Parts: sequence; structure tokens; C-alpha cells
Amino acid sequence: MSAPLLQLQQVSKRFNDGDERGNVVALRDISLTVHEGEFVSVLGPSGCGKSTLLRIIAGLTAPTTGQCLYKGQPVNKPSLERGYVFQDPRLFPWLTVLENINLAGAGANGEELLNKMDLAEFGQALPHELSGGMARRVALARALAPQPHLLLLDEPLANLDVPLRQNLQAELQRIWEQQGVTCILVTHNIDEALALGTRLILLSKRPAIIRYDLALDMSFPRKIHQAQVAALKTQILEWMEVH
Ligand SMILES: Nc1ncnc2c1ncn2[C@@H]1O[C@H](COP(=O)(O)OP(=O)(O)O)[C@@H](O)[C@H]1O
Ligand SMILES: [Mg+2]
Repeated sequence: MSAPLLQLQQVSKRFNDGDERGNVVALRDISLTVHEGEFVSVLGPSGCGKSTLLRIIAGLTAPTTGQCLYKGQPVNKPSLERGYVFQDPRLFPWLTVLENINLAGAGANGEELLNKMDLAEFGQALPHELSGGMARRVALARALAPQPHLLLLDEPLANLDVPLRQNLQAELQRIWEQQGVTCILVTHNIDEALALGTRLILLSKRPAIIRYDLALDMSFPRKIHQAQVAALKTQILEWMEVH
């Protein structure tokens, strides 16, 4: 196997910023190795520390103890090599769709990405003219523009209608397959985790520790009523109830 793209070594994160939330341990002893080409689904209950984990990998926040290595080097700041899609699209309202996508610059092919995302007609539109699903696609295109090696997806499809969500899941899968970008997708939706991952990591309630780390050796596209997928879902639901 190739050298790992990402290594978390006993990463813990404690927040003690003295506000009303007091001392919060969000992550405890997370050790995780991710290789190029994986699609890792990270599943865990709301508030368990999933976003904190992604922010550490992105270099937006530092672990309290332990370390995060990207290509063997400690992560200490954000990099365009590690694209980040936030839970809400966070587009700049005064910039057009194309300007939002090209913002991160460097070799970006905004027009091509717009085509891929089925947004060719909307390059000159402003964010307020977009539907929720379109805004998500623009956020995804923006993260892809600098051609990241690692794509960090923080519940990018939460609160969307089921058909739209399935549509964008298919799109995500295509991007992963065609562009060879390694993905880490945080979600609290089991179906989504099972639809997209080559691997599934199940986190406990806060402070998050890794409860299970499973390879998902099923071909794509997956259907939730496929026997193997359905059986896994039942198993995971049981695990989630226990923890
Ligand atoms: N900047 C912060 N300061 C204090 N507590 C925080 C901060 N960010 C997150 N937390 C706390 O850490 C825990 C995990 O948060 P988060 O990673 O956002 O969870 P998730 O993404 O799984 O819903 C929560 O209890 C949250 O309130
Ligand atoms: Mg979150």
C-alpha cells in the first residue's frame, strides 16, 4: 500500500475558553490513517465532535494533544490541497457564482466546474438567486477549483430534500471516481455514509472516540435495499443505540 495521505495520532481536543460551555472534551485519542483514494464516511451523533475532527485535519484548529500529519508533515495551517465544504454554503453574497468559484484561484477552471455541476447558465448569477441545492453545488465547485488532494465534507448535504440529496450524492461519487480525490465525509445520515464510503468510521457520543472502523467492500452505485447494505444498516443502528 502507498504511504498514508493522512495520519491522526492520538488526537484529543479540549475546549476551555471559559464561556458558559465550560470545559468540553470534544475528541479523545483519535488515531486514524487514511490512504489516497479512500472515501471515508464518518458517522456520529450530533455534537460528538465531527466538525472539530475535520477542522483539525483542515488545519483550522489545533489538537490539544496528539498530532495530525498530512503527507508526513504536521498540519498547522489550512492549505488549498485540503478542500473544505462547510455545512452551510458560505458563499460571498456580493460575488457572482463564477467569482465565488474562482476565488481560491490557482489553476481553477471555473467554467468547466460549472458545467460539471450543471450550473453553466448561472456563472453570472448572485448567490441569493440560487436555490439551496444550487448553492451547495457552488460550494462544492469552489472547494474543487484548486484541485485538492483531500476533500473534507462537513455534512454538505444536510437539510436537503431527499431527491436533491440523492442527486448530489451521485455527483459526489462521480467526482471521487473521476478526479481521484480522497474524501472524508462527515454525516449523521447512515444511508449517506453507506451509499458513498469505501470505509465507515463510527464515532461515539462526545467525547468522540472511534467505536468501529469498517471497510465497505460493495460496488457502486449502492442501493439502500441491497441485502448487504440493509444488513449493515441494521447492525450500525444497533451499535448507535448501544453507545
Ligand atoms: N470553539 C469552540 N469552543 C467551545 N466548544 C466548542 C467549540 N467548537 C465546538 N465545541 C463543542 O465541542 C463539541 C463538538 O462539537 P462539533 O465538533 O461541532 O460536533 P459535531 O460536528 O459532531 O456536531 C460540542 O459540544 C461543541 O459545543
Ligand atoms: Mg458539525
